[in-house]
Amino acid sequence: MFDSGFGGLTVARALIDLLPGEDLVYVGDTGRYPYGPRDLNEVRVFAHEITEHLRANHDVKLIVIACNTASAAALNELRELCDIPVIGVIEPGVQSLVSATRNGNVGVIGTVGTIGSGAYQSSVAEADPAVTLTCAACPGFVEFVERGETHSDQVYVLAERLLAPLVAADIDTLLLGCTHYPFLARTISDVMGRGVVLVDSADETAFRVRRLLSELDIEREADGRLGRHVFESSGDVEVFQSLGRRLLGPELDTVVGVSWE
Ligand code: DGL
Repeated sequence: MFDSGFGGLTVARALIDLLPGEDLVYVGDTGRYPYGPRDLNEVRVFAHEITEHLRANHDVKLIVIACNTASAAALNELRELCDIPVIGVIEPGVQSLVSATRNGNVGVIGTVGTIGSGAYQSSVAEADPAVTLTCAACPGFVEFVERGETHSDQVYVLAERLLAPLVAADIDTLLLGCTHYPFLARTISDVMGRGVVLVDSADETAFRVRRLLSELDIEREADGRLGRHVFESSGDVEVFQSLGRRLLGPELDTVVGVSWE
C-alpha cells in the first residue's frame, strides 16, 4: 500500500482491523509529498516507481493505491501493467457516497490534482447518473494534517472558506476524497453541519481487498497469527514514526527509510 505521506494510514487502519492476519507494507512517500499540487504525469511516475519497489523488494500479492491523487493519476495504467491486482480508493469511495445519500445531492472534496483530473466526476456519473455532484478542491488541508494540526482555529477558518460552496449547494452527503481528510473530520463536520453525512473510502477499500483476496484465493489462512506490519518513509523517518503512530496506532512501531535513487 502506498500514499504520498500519512493520509493512507486511514486506509491502513481499516485494512489492519478487517484483515489482522495479512502482512502489510506501507510506503509513505513523504520525501516527495504533497502530490496534490503536482502535475499528474509526475505523480504517475512516482506511483510506478513505488509499485516497482513493492513488487521487487517485498514480493507483494496485491497493491492498494491509498491516495486519491495517485489513484487518479495511475490506477488504470498500473492495472494494465501489473499481473497482480491493484486497487485504488476513488471507486470504493464513490460507492459509499451514492449508497449513503438520501436526497441525491452530494459533494466530493479532494486535492487540486484529484478534483482537476475529473476522476470523481466521471466515477459518480457512472455509479449513479441521477446524483447531483458538487466538487471542491481544498488546498492547504493536507499540510495541516501533515503538521499534526487537525483541530486548530486556523484549520477551521480555512475549512469555512473552502467548504462554503458545498454548504451553499445543500448537499446531504460529503465524500472525503483525500485520504488525509478523515483526520479533519470533526472540523469538516462542524463547518458542514451535523445533518451532512461524511463518508470516506477507507472501510469500503478494505472490504474490496478482502473480497478480492478471497475471490482469487490468495488470502492468508486464518490461523490466529497476527500479520507483520512494515512502514517505510522516503522522508524523515523519525517524524513519520511519531506522527504516524499518533494517527494509526500502536502497529506503527518502527519505520524504515526508503529512497528512489
Ligand atoms: N493522500 C493524498 C490524496 O489522497 C493527498 C496528499 C497529497 O497532496 O500528497 O489525494
